[in-house]
Amino acid sequence: MTAAQLLAYITVAVLLQVVAGAAFAVWRRPSTAGAPPPAGVDEAVDSATGAWSGWRDFRVVRREFEDAAKTQCSFHLQPVDGARLVPFQPGQYLTFSLKLPNGGRALTRCYSLSDRPDPTGYRITIKRVPPPADRPELPPGVSSGHFHDRVHEGDVLQVKAPSGHFFIDPNASVPAVFIAGGIGITPMMSMLRWCVAEQPERLVHLYYGVRSSGDHAFKQVLEELAAAHPAFKLNVVYGNPEAEDVQARDYQHAGYIDLELLRRTLPHGRHQFYVCGPPPMMQSLVPALREWGVQADDIHFEAFGPASVRPLGSATNEPLAITSAAMDVRFTRSGRTLAWDGQDANLLDFAERHDLAVDSGCRSGSCGACQTRLLSGTVSYADKPDHDIPKGHCLLCVGKPQSALVLEA
Ligand SMILES: Cc1cc2nc3c(=O)[nH]c(=O)nc-3n(C[C@H](O)[C@H](O)[C@H](O)COP(=O)(O)OP(=O)(O)OC[C@H]3O[C@@H](n4cnc5c(N)ncnc54)[C@H](O)[C@@H]3O)c2cc1C
Ligand code: FES
Repeated sequence: MTAAQLLAYITVAVLLQVVAGAAFAVWRRPSTAGAPPPAGVDEAVDSATGAWSGWRDFRVVRREFEDAAKTQCSFHLQPVDGARLVPFQPGQYLTFSLKLPNGGRALTRCYSLSDRPDPTGYRITIKRVPPPADRPELPPGVSSGHFHDRVHEGDVLQVKAPSGHFFIDPNASVPAVFIAGGIGITPMMSMLRWCVAEQPERLVHLYYGVRSSGDHAFKQVLEELAAAHPAFKLNVVYGNPEAEDVQARDYQHAGYIDLELLRRTLPHGRHQFYVCGPPPMMQSLVPALREWGVQADDIHFEAFGPASVRPLGSATNEPLAITSAAMDVRFTRSGRTLAWDGQDANLLDFAERHDLAVDSGCRSGSCGACQTRLLSGTVSYADKPDHDIPKGHCLLCVGKPQSALVLEA
């Protein structure tokens, strides 16, 4: 063997070892469809209670469609560490950190828990979001498309503990009225499943509005629950039934959920209302309930996007007044000082309009993704955000400056 041949053999052997080592490392790594926990945020699980702070790894153990059109998909999740889960309040949501294949910053999104508490696993149900009907040229929803197209059984996702203030009052015994539009059914499924299991005597009315049988999610399970529990009154409302849809078999009412329908079908007396649906439904129904005489304390609602309903107790649903006085907002990390002139709905829109890179997720004060250190000044909120804001911080997506600000962003 010549020296050149020996050198070639040694080089090939070393290369083979490197390739084998790399392949082993890849094989050992769990499949992950989400982001690695963001730097500085750790997973600290209390094994006694199942509570955790920061991000925790969950594996997708099952996925299944809930509607005939296959636009609403449930994902069943179990903790990778195998420890028990913190019980949540039915109606709460999980926050996800998603790493998309195109690289870039992790995406934060919230999804409501769609089943009653179970110490071994969680379920969420996600609707694929298309481009707006009047802007078909826009890209479809990023996170919902990612879940539908790329999150499979066995994948691992990074998840924050359940949170949110929209949940069933466990101590109340007055009848509950759940009003859901479209994918707003998810928190209602959780509350409903909890009610029939824990308070089987309590009267529960569900009003669930969809277009037709195509996007009627959880159809079979809702019908089975209604048949098994006399205290559960099912009212499915189709806005645009298909030719083969049959009233009294597939749905109870044609049209939309409005005050007239509630007046006609609800018995007299006090009820607690829980409302979740698209902006037009929320904007009309929530104030209508107040006008009907329902106490503000008996109306609970959640929007799945930028806040669409004025805080209860305010006289009208008019947009909040725009602050006209110009104020300086200094962003220390990017080194820019911009003049707030009141034309933006919130500090997040303001920052984005000026091409500042700031994190965001729900855009409705729920997930905490836009939380920013407030170095000086005062930020005001039209309504108390769902996310608990630590001292010295603010939420950009629902906050407006009350004075000149210095923000660490
Ligand atoms: C507390 C809470 C609970 C929630 N629970 C659920 C749940 O249980 N199930 C569920 O399915 N969802 C739920 N959501 C909504 C969910 O978090 C996401 O908002 C939803 O999945 C859409 O996110 P996306 O990334 O798919 O869409 P995005 O990428 O955020 O897009 C949203 C829309 O904007 C359009 N768009 C894209 N580009 C532009 C542009 N340049 N200009 C204007 N429009 C544009 C898209 O086409 C799409 O229609 C919840 C939200 C909150 C806050
Ligand atoms: S983006 Fe979710 S709290 Fe602001």
